[in-house]
Amino acid sequence: MAETIRELISEQDVDKRIEELGQQISADYEGKSIHLICILKGGAFFMCELAKRITVPVSIDFMSVGSYGDDTVSSGSIKIKKDLEESIEGKEVLIVEDIIDSGRTLCYLTDVLEKRGAKSVRLCTLLDKPERRVVEVKTDYVGFQIPDEFVVGYGLDYAQKYRTLPYIGVVEGV
Ligand code: IMP
Ligand code: MG
Repeated sequence: MAETIRELISEQDVDKRIEELGQQISADYEGKSIHLICILKGGAFFMCELAKRITVPVSIDFMSVGSYGDDTVSSGSIKIKKDLEESIEGKEVLIVEDIIDSGRTLCYLTDVLEKRGAKSVRLCTLLDKPERRVVEVKTDYVGFQIPDEFVVGYGLDYAQKYRTLPYIGVVEGV
């Protein structure tokens, strides 16, 4: 069977949900500024859309962590591949991630960032697969909870493919 993509969440629904998250985050951080930390590469698409919809002052930085190779199964170990450029000391940090699966990446990362003296560390993820959780992670903002299926699009890849799809889809026939 050839590899195909079945649409799970339409472009319109993703955009609408990001708009809502932007409003909620803007209200929660009223009077403050937010330091967004984008987890590369997947989180980049979501962060750009989200950042445009936040009305309080925003600064951004990027980090790249590895747990997956070009596969759909987690190796379980996390390492920092690209670190932040700026200090997060005293900042209201909001981590922006594409998806939480086992929770290992975010569990590790929130711990690392909290130790660096951020004033607060919260987490915003576009997608959440709660059934797959191996370690506990406190999510503050979740776009969509989805079933245990491997998804692509809106930054998410399958072996570096399908990242640029403007909707969320499920890879079939692999
Ligand atoms: P965790 O550490 O298991 O929570 O894995 C999180 C990372 O795994 C995400 O940042 C993604 O890069 C990748 N990942 C998990 N599930 C999917 C999926 O369904 N599609 C694409 N990437 C995924
Ligand atoms: Mg990722």
